[in-house]
Amino acid sequence: MKSFFISFEGPDGSGKSTVLEQVVAQIAPKLRAQYLVTREPGGSKIAEQIRQFILDPANIAMSAKTEALLYAASRSQHMAETIIPALEKGQVVFSDRFVDSSLAYQGVGRDLGIEAVKAINDFATSGIEPDVTIFLDVQPEVGLARIAKDHGGQEDRLEQEKLSFHQKVYQGYQWVNQQYSDRIEVVNANRPLSKVVADCVKIVVNRLPKELLKD
Ligand code: TYD
Repeated sequence: MKSFFISFEGPDGSGKSTVLEQVVAQIAPKLRAQYLVTREPGGSKIAEQIRQFILDPANIAMSAKTEALLYAASRSQHMAETIIPALEKGQVVFSDRFVDSSLAYQGVGRDLGIEAVKAINDFATSGIEPDVTIFLDVQPEVGLARIAKDHGGQEDRLEQEKLSFHQKVYQGYQWVNQQYSDRIEVVNANRPLSKVVADCVKIVVNRLPKELLKD
């Protein structure tokens, strides 16, 4: 049965979660198929428990390798319990982050190397990839300023990292975007929300197999 898997990526503060919510609201009425909205790290009960460990600001001693393995562990559980069953039922899956986040944050941001991080993630996902990925492009300086304004001192462990870390993550994303340019669509997210959402909706509708859309 035809299914479709869409992931959303972007630096911290790119507005990803808000954009995703509005994109889904506009696409849902056009879909013939059922759909599922999920997120990483998390997206199942066990994966959400792993998320708590990873993002807890108290876990400052966590090593980069442990962090990468926990993201991959959370992803493996998310695949097994949530994503694979939905795809097998012919659903449209929207995921807030997926493997590209690990390549950019752990592979480049944490200096573990993209190859090593890709290898553990291939194991976690059995090589299943999104059909399309939307990268919300915003400079790390802009993203971090948005977070400081919105979260007011309640940032999670990754958000608390220095600007230099987020700049490396951004460079990681540039590499990933080039490497997977057939799959990844880059959308300028430093614009009014309605414009960003409209571009994303257009991309998703163009990429969705026609049989999953209403006439
Ligand atoms: P998330 O809650 O999605 O934050 P945001 O709303 O900013 O997107 O993700 C939490 C953090 O985890 C975020 O800083 C990105 C990071 N992350 C990784 O470092 N590696 C990963 O594989 C994933 C999925 C997220």
